[in-house]
Amino acid sequence: MSLPRLQLRTLRVGDEASFRKAVAEFARETPPWQFAFDFSHSTVFANYVRQLERCSHGIDVPAHFVPNTYFVGIVDGAVVGRISLRHLLNDFLAKVGGHIGYGVIPSQRRQGYATDMLRNALPLCAGLGIRRALITCDEHNIGSRKVIEACGGIFEGMIDDPESNGRKRRYWVVTAENYVSPQDLFQ
Ligand SMILES: CC(C)(COP(=O)(O)OP(=O)(O)OC[C@H]1O[C@@H](n2cnc3c(N)ncnc32)[C@H](O)[C@@H]1OP(=O)(O)O)[C@@H](O)C(=O)NCCC(=O)NCCS
Repeated sequence: MSLPRLQLRTLRVGDEASFRKAVAEFARETPPWQFAFDFSHSTVFANYVRQLERCSHGIDVPAHFVPNTYFVGIVDGAVVGRISLRHLLNDFLAKVGGHIGYGVIPSQRRQGYATDMLRNALPLCAGLGIRRALITCDEHNIGSRKVIEACGGIFEGMIDDPESNGRKRRYWVVTAENYVSPQDLFQ
């Protein structure tokens, strides 16, 4: 079976309807997973797109965040997921959060989209200077574990997660052979 092609790119103003739909779908999940940061019903979408772009350039980065680039996975013109690349690691990210976070909307899962997003994100990580990306997942998150391992994740070990009182699996993925220049990121 051939999958519809997934495109990974930054958010655009024209994505508003499908992005809001994705946010709403995630909000209905239990427990909810944070698909969009600092986003609500009343957010002016064009401002949000600009805010994400500024954040990816290290401008007006919220407290406790690091510069990061937020990509959406697009299939047939609609947002199916997102993947965030953190350009550097603070204490929390170095232990628990890692360089990369991703999610696929519930109605679009188990079609290979998370694996596609992560695979496509690796050259972008290399372009940001991240030659070895730390990726973590909850101990019992089989889907995420499979995604990381399918993309070459090398298991390092477990760590306690003080936020969830659970444990995380820590993986490293070599990105360097997949280099893409930073200019190509924003075309
Ligand atoms: C984890 C998540 C990203 C997986 O997305 P997805 O698009 O369904 O993943 P894929 O389709 O690429 O699946 C990859 C593999 O995992 C398997 N898989 C996916 N979800 C699974 C689940 N809930 N249980 C068991 N296996 C699962 C798929 O069958 C596939 O296996 P295969 O390679 O043997 O065929 C998605 O469930 C999600 O967004 N969860 C909430 C957010 C989250 O947990 N993010 C990860 C933490 S950073």
